[in-house]
Amino acid sequence: MCGIVGYVGGQSALDVVIAGLKRLEYRGYDSAGVAVLSDGGLAAAKKAGKLVNLEKELVDRPLSSGSTGIGHTRWATHGGPTDANAHPHLDNAGRVAVVHNGIIENFAALRTELAERGHDLLSETDTEVVAHLLAEEFSSVGDLAEAMRLVCRRLDGAFTLVAVHADQPDVVVGARRNSPLVVGVGEGENFLASDVSAFIAHTRSAIELGQDQVVELTREGVTVTDFDGAPADVRAYHVDWDASAAEKGGYDYFMLKEIAEQPKAVADTLLGRIGADGHLRLDEVRIPDAVLREADKIVIIACGTAFHAGLIAKYAIEHWTRIPCEVELASEFRYRDPILGQRTLVIAISQSGETMDTLMALRHAREQGAKVLAVCNTNGSTIPRESDAVLYTHAGPEVAVASTKAFLTQLVACYLLALYLGQVRGTKWGDEIHAVVRELARIGDEVERVLDTMEPVRALARSLADKDTVLFLGRHVGYPVALEGALKLKELAYMHAEGFAAGELKHGPIALIEEDLPVVVVVPSPRGRSVLHDKIVSNIQEIRARGARTIVIAEEGDEAVVPYADHLIRVPATPTLLQPLVSTVPLQVFACELATARGNEVDQPRNLAKSVTVE
Ligand code: F6R
Repeated sequence: MCGIVGYVGGQSALDVVIAGLKRLEYRGYDSAGVAVLSDGGLAAAKKAGKLVNLEKELVDRPLSSGSTGIGHTRWATHGGPTDANAHPHLDNAGRVAVVHNGIIENFAALRTELAERGHDLLSETDTEVVAHLLAEEFSSVGDLAEAMRLVCRRLDGAFTLVAVHADQPDVVVGARRNSPLVVGVGEGENFLASDVSAFIAHTRSAIELGQDQVVELTREGVTVTDFDGAPADVRAYHVDWDASAAEKGGYDYFMLKEIAEQPKAVADTLLGRIGADGHLRLDEVRIPDAVLREADKIVIIACGTAFHAGLIAKYAIEHWTRIPCEVELASEFRYRDPILGQRTLVIAISQSGETMDTLMALRHAREQGAKVLAVCNTNGSTIPRESDAVLYTHAGPEVAVASTKAFLTQLVACYLLALYLGQVRGTKWGDEIHAVVRELARIGDEVERVLDTMEPVRALARSLADKDTVLFLGRHVGYPVALEGALKLKELAYMHAEGFAAGELKHGPIALIEEDLPVVVVVPSPRGRSVLHDKIVSNIQEIRARGARTIVIAEEGDEAVVPYADHLIRVPATPTLLQPLVSTVPLQVFACELATARGNEVDQPRNLAKSVTVE
């Protein structure tokens, strides 16, 4: 949520910053801006709308080039997406420029105080107060890093701040509390950014900043302190992402590329975790087996698509481990006084590792004595760092705002975890666990097979472009899949889409069914839990009898659904609990194609941002 870049070095700061912002635009795209230091002065440009508007502005009104600069791409919180509210924000003398991600909760009091001292604040943002406070502090201490420390001590809330001052033209200063900021260390140049993708083209050496730290960058070095000025410990690491992973690679959208990458993402997440003997090895899970054996309750916390992964995980965990498992929206969790103890294992699922709701929920859980295990896709991000252990998903960078490959890998990680808990605790499902591990090991190929058969799904999606509503039904693990299908359609196609447990139909939702209403039904396998299958076939008949156009997702060989399916989408046969890995894929393709047919921006849907770093 908001992307930030800072640069000092020998290249054109403007070029480096704009290229970095392009990589970070997924974090917010309401407005964008830059500030560059040159010839003893500070020049800034900012524009509402996407980054391309700023680029046009820079063609019409070029900024003089300099080698120190900062930039911002915004997801609006305080104040609408206007030119005036776009970042950077400057002090009245135009000597300081600051960009910000997060929310400064006490900004109203600070604003009143500044106005009383004669400052003229021009925007509706919480950020602008920081530019004015920095200018005041700088005028007494003459050093931007020290001014930043003094200002940060007065701020409440969550923030990443990056600032420059015309009187210190070779310095960029950053600060972080609860919002992400990483340092890129180059040769004679250094970088700051919300995530490493902004500087990966220049350097792979990165430094993780901790909470409440201030960093000063010059061409020659990086100095990190806490907010009181004491030297701080930081962790340097090597970024091993393939740089091409953050490129579209010939696809029209990142989302299409990321859907296509799913077989590899799934295989990479399994890699090294299944031994030749079929036993699972989750060596990186630092929670001792003895603690896992003792756990008497599991609570999963997550948001959005990650929450849906959690709902599916619950079925697997309870079945294979017999430990009671609750799944809760992270945004609700800490406000309802949840019951947690030392034997509670909390699983926090997050692609970005920065979602504020999930972070706050995990902190609450740890304060209550629970152990927290993160399932996360972003190395070194805040959620795994603050957890007792982490199981990384290896989806690679996910750039499209709508989550696809990260979701599938979250499922894989949760299955691995559930099976591992079953293995450690020696539950009665030993044989089933071995069989499922074997199936899991080949599931990437099945995902590939689904991807190879998606053309009819795309054609169907295009034919529904003028519909207002699509409903999704499922039972058992098909129910969270239905919720995920509906979420994808809402966020991408801006259509009314709802997912229901098919068993709930007669308790209300069936009243929505009318002539030609598209209803997607996720059908469980007829093998194994055949009662479930029979029940959903009855549900399909019930809605069809009332005029619904049925779009049925069913496994190969399931002939019972054929008479009732207006459109049939086949997926490979898998064990019931693993079916979401194949049944979600057509729903992703369906939503993506419908969004395109309706003329929507697939990678950057309106009002959304990839990483939600405010509550
Ligand atoms: C939907 C989507 C979001 C995220 C949610 C959590 O396609 O991507 O619902 O799943 O914002 O984000 P993470 O996983 O980064 O915590």
